[in-house]
Amino acid sequence: MSAILPPAERLWYRHPIDRVEGTWIAIALIWCLVMFAMMVGWHVWGKQNLSTETYRTTPEKFSAKAQAVVDKYTVRTETDQKVPVVAPPPGSDVYMIARLWNFWPILELEKGKTYKLHLTSMDYNHGFSLQPANINIQVVPGFEHVVTVTPNQSGTYSVVCNEYCGINHHTMVGRVYVK
Ligand code: CUA
Repeated sequence: MSAILPPAERLWYRHPIDRVEGTWIAIALIWCLVMFAMMVGWHVWGKQNLSTETYRTTPEKFSAKAQAVVDKYTVRTETDQKVPVVAPPPGSDVYMIARLWNFWPILELEKGKTYKLHLTSMDYNHGFSLQPANINIQVVPGFEHVVTVTPNQSGTYSVVCNEYCGINHHTMVGRVYVK
């Protein structure tokens, strides 16, 4: 056998599998299955991979609902961009919009109270990574993701976009206050 001449049997899948090769394929396959099972495990035991409900929506429909909540429950604005800080009553539906390159509005929630957080993107795929709580979900345009959240620690949380979404991806941050 030489590396210069073509192999006698040109169809690679007709070659017998070497024992070492077969072993590696088996290891890789088993590892894939372990990783696959861990996705479920992280949800059940690791309290990660949140259960989200997802519905179809449009930017117009979602912004109308978000705007209504912002109009009703804005308590102040922050930064030069006058981002509204919205403090909706416990138990209510809260909305956050992801778009190039910000999250809108800022939310102010009460510790120990449950809210239904609705998320969508106005343009491309974004990520919603809540730090330091380490909650992490994808925000996909055309879909409304609904997560039930009960903040259990007060403080200032950062929302970070963790799906690369263009030149200003690194500036795409938002904020959630828990009182
Ligand atoms: Cu939005 Cu990266």
